[in-house]
Amino acid sequence: MEKGQELYNKAKTLIPGGTQLLSKRPEMFLPERWPSYYKKAKGCEIWDLDGKKYIDMSYMGIGSCILGYADRDINDAVKRCIDSGSMNTLNVPEEVELAELLINLHPWAEMTRYVRTGGEAMSVAVRIARAYSRKDKVLFCGYHGWHDWYLSANLMSKKSLNGHLLPGLNPLGVPDNLSGLTIPFEYNDTEGFLRIFEKHKNETGAIVLETIRNYEPEKEFLFAVRKSAFKKNIPLIADEITSGFRLTSGGAHLIYGLEPDIAVFAKGISNGFPMAAVIGKKKVMQSAQDSFISSTYWTEKIGPVAAIATIKKIIYNDVPKHLIETGRKVKKIWKSTAGKFRLDIQISGIDPLGHFSFICKEPLVYKTLFTQKMLEQGFLAATAFYSSYSHKSHHIKSYAAACNKAFAFIKRVSESGNPKRFLKGPVCHSGFKRLN
Ligand SMILES: Cc1ncc(COP(=O)(O)O)c(C=O)c1O
Repeated sequence: MEKGQELYNKAKTLIPGGTQLLSKRPEMFLPERWPSYYKKAKGCEIWDLDGKKYIDMSYMGIGSCILGYADRDINDAVKRCIDSGSMNTLNVPEEVELAELLINLHPWAEMTRYVRTGGEAMSVAVRIARAYSRKDKVLFCGYHGWHDWYLSANLMSKKSLNGHLLPGLNPLGVPDNLSGLTIPFEYNDTEGFLRIFEKHKNETGAIVLETIRNYEPEKEFLFAVRKSAFKKNIPLIADEITSGFRLTSGGAHLIYGLEPDIAVFAKGISNGFPMAAVIGKKKVMQSAQDSFISSTYWTEKIGPVAAIATIKKIIYNDVPKHLIETGRKVKKIWKSTAGKFRLDIQISGIDPLGHFSFICKEPLVYKTLFTQKMLEQGFLAATAFYSSYSHKSHHIKSYAAACNKAFAFIKRVSESGNPKRFLKGPVCHSGFKRLN
């Protein structure tokens, strides 16, 4: 057995669920065969515990490394920060510099608060909104993390969150009396939103949405959400944790003409170093002072330093342009290669965060076969590709050749009538599950 799998088996005896993030579970990719752990990462290359090198054509640190792994400019800034003391009793001046930088990019915003992860940033945003509106209900669409306010949506119906990225999330441990406070609506379903809004508008304290994820927003939808929130003075929160800094240097809402009251950034802004920012209009953000929102490690210096360096590099190099172009190329490869082998696939997602699914009786078997065949050729690959600044044309070219082989293989085994027989391990998982 390879070292990574051996260590993962041990991890599952010591760490419930094996990892700290569902999306990093080897079972989500290639059960029993995924490299699982790494020794070194640079650009878009990763070396596993056995020293084998892979090109990462999957999630790039689950979307947290827009510039690529161990980017020299960001690492140099962080190393200088560590050497000059990244934590002490006084505050970090870079917090103010970062506030100005974010506000310059988003002129509708006037104030910022900082935390270190996406989920907690969303929790803070919802807390501030509720403190401002003095109302408890939250209308939302999209994925927003693991905290009680969000997971409580699954108390009323176990399936409330299924259409919002991760199916099967179990809210066990979330108090039952939060039931009914967090209410989902569908992206781009204007009528559906308006129906839900009418029903709950007098008790609603926040409206939350991911500006964009899989589909382009319809103008009418964004307009209806904005107008409704405005009418009842309910803070509108744009979650830009995944969409931010990929389509433009700032939140995707800048492109779509959506002016939220709060916007939240995390994994797009600091190239893998923990950092998150909640930015917003002054009248709403000031409500943070009426509630207790405070944590020691939100005051360390690596996060703001990494964020300033990352954002400046993104702007200077017009990184979103590269992310869009590279993502588009990969989508084209999927389309033309699937067409060549007459495999039915559906491609979706914005260009920097593209994905595809096999349209067939056993899509998960096909997905696992794809990952298996790509891994054999030196690629970490699933049915999604998060582009980064470190993906250059030669990576895309060799990925195209490997895809050709993988799709040819899948076509061949699909004709055998029993493609599952060609898997070297179990089928991958598709969502949240308890591990044995
Ligand atoms: C849109 C969105 N919101 C919130 C989160 C949660 O962020 P984190 O995993 O840093 O807690 C994510 C993470 O994938 C996300 O994509």
